[in-house]
Amino acid sequence: MAEHRPVDFWRGDFGSEYIGRNSANAAAVRQRTRSWGCYLQNILPDLPRSILEVGCSVGINLRALNNLVDAELHGLEPNEAARRVLADEGVLPKSHIHEGEAKSLPFKDGQFEMTFTTGVLIHVPPSELPAAIDELHRVSSKYILMSEYFAHEPEEKTYRGQQGLLFKRDFGGFMLDRHPELTIVDYGFQWMRAGAADNGHWWLFRK
Ligand SMILES: C[S@@+](CC[C@H](N)C(=O)[O-])C[C@H]1O[C@@H](n2cnc3c(N)ncnc32)[C@H](O)[C@@H]1O
Repeated sequence: MAEHRPVDFWRGDFGSEYIGRNSANAAAVRQRTRSWGCYLQNILPDLPRSILEVGCSVGINLRALNNLVDAELHGLEPNEAARRVLADEGVLPKSHIHEGEAKSLPFKDGQFEMTFTTGVLIHVPPSELPAAIDELHRVSSKYILMSEYFAHEPEEKTYRGQQGLLFKRDFGGFMLDRHPELTIVDYGFQWMRAGAADNGHWWLFRK
C-alpha cells in the first residue's frame, strides 16, 4: 500500500464502492437484526439508552437497532457518501450523523451507554489500534461491543487485492488487556453457514 492511511481509502472511492456492494436492503437489515438478538440477549433487562456505532457505513446495524431498542442512536462514519445515505434515508437525524474516525472520537467521556464496531477495527492499522480501542472505551459509560475477525496472533490479510487494509487479532483480549476492569458480559461467533452476514467473533463488555 502507498503512503495513504487505510481510513483515507475508506473516505474516497474505495469506501463509496463498498456501499454499492453492501446496501441496507430489507434482507440485510433482517439478517443484522437476528445478530443483534444474540448480542443483546444477556442485557435485555438493562438495555442501553444511547448507542454510538463507530464506522456505521449506511447504517445496517442502526436500522436493525431501531427495530429492537428504544435508544438514542448515533453513527460516526468517515465516508461522505455513506453519511449522505444516512441523512437522505432518514436513518438518523442529521445531528446524530458524525464525521470522524475511530482513533479520535469527537465525544465526551461516557457520552453513550453503548459504543460498538462491527467490521471496523479490522481496518484500523495496528499502530492506531490502541487509540481506537481506548476511544471506544472512553466515550462509553456502560457497554462496549465489538464484532470483528478473530485470529490467535495478529495477522494481516489481503483485502480486495490490497495490502495494509485488513488486520485480524483477538480484539476482545486486546480490549481487556488495556482495560482490565471491564466485565465480560458475553461473547460468541456469528457463522455465515447459519445465516449470519459474516463470520465474525463478538465480545460484549460492561464498564
Ligand atoms: C466493512 S465496513 C462495516 C460497516 C458497518 N459497521 C457494518 O457492519 O455494516 C467498514 C466501515 O468502517 C469505516 N471505517 C474505516 N476505517 C475507519 C476508521 N479508522 N474509523 C472509523 N470508521 C472507519 C468505513 O468507512 C466503512 O464504512
